[in-house]
Amino acid sequence: MKELDFIYQRRSVRRFTPQPVTGEQIEALLKAAMAAPSAMNLKPWRFVVVQDPERLEALRGVSPYSRIVAPLAICVCGDLGGIKSLVSKRFWVQDCSAATQNLLLAATALGLGAVWCGVHPLEAESKRVSKVLKLPERVSPLNVIFIGHPAEQREPRTQYDPKNVSWEVFGANPGDI
Ligand SMILES: Cc1cc2nc3c(=O)[nH]c(=O)nc-3n(C[C@H](O)[C@H](O)[C@H](O)COP(=O)(O)O)c2cc1C
Repeated sequence: MKELDFIYQRRSVRRFTPQPVTGEQIEALLKAAMAAPSAMNLKPWRFVVVQDPERLEALRGVSPYSRIVAPLAICVCGDLGGIKSLVSKRFWVQDCSAATQNLLLAATALGLGAVWCGVHPLEAESKRVSKVLKLPERVSPLNVIFIGHPAEQREPRTQYDPKNVSWEVFGANPGDI
């Protein structure tokens, strides 16, 4: 199905050209992110956009797995300050993950590349990101997404495996029913 090709084209890109991402592109990425679903539509997501070279360098140092040189990083965070219900507080990771995936797909659709670098639930990494971005106590970083114009090509693909799918009850194939 051609309509879904952009989903298969989304791959983690870790090498970028120095070409900056425009303000218009950044706004488009953020609009896509904030089109995501969230539990009770509470939208706990917050986004810190980083373009300053020194701050990007500091974000690269957060973990051995985030040493990505890119002209732009967006940290997706959850703001639990305004959320009263304990149940809702527990959904911030899903809400912010949905926003992150929307952002990654939007980057692909715009011809940009991006990689999701995980922060939550790693405590030391979370503290480092919070310090670099001056996050208040009530705001938790989920990830840092490095974004730019790709300097590497990755093959589109699905990782479809029918073994991961059950029918009606767990472990059952269509022939078992
Ligand atoms: C929660 C999460 C954390 C990740 N953390 C990192 C990371 O720290 N550094 C990195 O280079 N890639 C990271 N990735 C990207 C994965 O390595 C990548 O998605 C996976 O290898 C599949 O490749 P693909 O994105 O090209 O489909 C992370 C992805 C997720 C969903």
